[in-house]
Amino acid sequence: MILGQLTDSHIKVGGRLAYGLFDSKVMFEAAIKRLNEFTPKVDAVIVTGDLTDIGLPEEYERLRECLDQIEAPWFPVPGNHDQRDNFLKCFGDLSALKDCDEFAHYCVEDFPVRLIGLDTVVSGKSYGHLCEKRLQWLDHKLNEQPDRPTMLFMHHPPIKVGITHMDVQNLLNGEALFECIAPHKQVKHLACGHVHRAIETCVNGVGVSIAPNGAHAVALDLEPNGPACFEMDPAAFRVFRIDDESLQIVSHVGYVEDNGGKHPFFDENGNLIT
Ligand SMILES: [Fe+2]
Repeated sequence: MILGQLTDSHIKVGGRLAYGLFDSKVMFEAAIKRLNEFTPKVDAVIVTGDLTDIGLPEEYERLRECLDQIEAPWFPVPGNHDQRDNFLKCFGDLSALKDCDEFAHYCVEDFPVRLIGLDTVVSGKSYGHLCEKRLQWLDHKLNEQPDRPTMLFMHHPPIKVGITHMDVQNLLNGEALFECIAPHKQVKHLACGHVHRAIETCVNGVGVSIAPNGAHAVALDLEPNGPACFEMDPAAFRVFRIDDESLQIVSHVGYVEDNGGKHPFFDENGNLIT
């Protein structure tokens, strides 16, 4: 199984440049085109929040124009730049989200790995939090299928990454999430957004990754209390390869721009080109 991940598209109303600098919709559509062209075919795509810039209905309309171009089934969760009500209205027709309660969380049962989307949003706040109700929902869902390898996907990462201005707005109760999933050994991976950088680590034997920037990247500044800045790193996306037999999850980063195509290592006679 090939699972794509797009994140933090920050779609704005027509004609507005993000931070006065770039058209986030153009960049998002380029990433979608690249994922559509990926071989082998992507089986599904998770889209991990900050889908719009400030959560306006018009932004969701433009977002939907983009997402409907994805050829594989796609599954969105909200981020702090989204508005949950408008998010749920925009995606009310998606069968995966039909059982959402007051939160935009749901399970996807169609693939060898079970996907569970989490809603980490706290209205009006940049940070994320999973209240007791949402943690109980997750525990209940994990109890339903203890033997199926499972990946959680969400916006706010439950870890600190060393970029101070992002760490103060991560999932504030990440430890509670890890406590919740600890008895559920089928949870293999957490896929997040929010930091606009490709980041990977492992917590208690569970893989944790953050998808890279499809548009602007948060600056790689590990100085304590470094300023909040972004930089225009090459646009990228994440792809997970889930082995058909072992179901091991491996994560990769691909780049959106055409960088000259593939060059062979070997000539037509099978000799290494030196
Ligand atoms: Fe973002």
